[in-house]
Amino acid sequence: MEFVVAPRIATLLALPFLIAGAGALRATTPLQATMRTWNSDAMTIGQMVGGARALDKAEATQLLQGFIVDSQAMAAQAEGPSAEASDIKSRFEEFAADAQLTIAAIRADDKVSVRYSQLRADCSSCHDAYAD
Ligand code: HEC
Repeated sequence: MEFVVAPRIATLLALPFLIAGAGALRATTPLQATMRTWNSDAMTIGQMVGGARALDKAEATQLLQGFIVDSQAMAAQAEGPSAEASDIKSRFEEFAADAQLTIAAIRADDKVSVRYSQLRADCSSCHDAYAD
């Protein structure tokens, strides 16, 4: 399966995804399709966190777990000796870790918007670096 990515990182993420476990279906989607899903899921979570709609903890947690599965799959693909590959890998790992912190915040009803803002900052900072 071809993995469609921005030209700058195409060489890093051009391998087909390894099929591993429950997240395989999401993890095999091309990066752009994954990003579109992330965009709509992030908007849903943002509405809940911002109070535009009621916070459904189960739904928000499920969407955040989707981010974790996808970003771990992406991190696993960003292998190679270049500094860029290791930067992309650590960005996706950090994104997964921040999604996990957001799940914990939702569970605890504490610092939800702080954690979610950090997660959104991860989106922007990776785009600034790689989605030009
Ligand atoms: C570690 C890097 C990284 C993170 C984190 C990341 N993105 Fe992206 N995103 C990219 C790259 C690279 C592209 C360009 C993909 C391409 O054009 O092939 C992209 C493209 C997109 C696009 C355009 C997709 C299209 O239709 O071409 C959207 C929308 C998007 N990202 C949303 C998000 C959202 C929302 C988040 C956070 C919840 C996020 N991204 C987090 C790297 C990242």
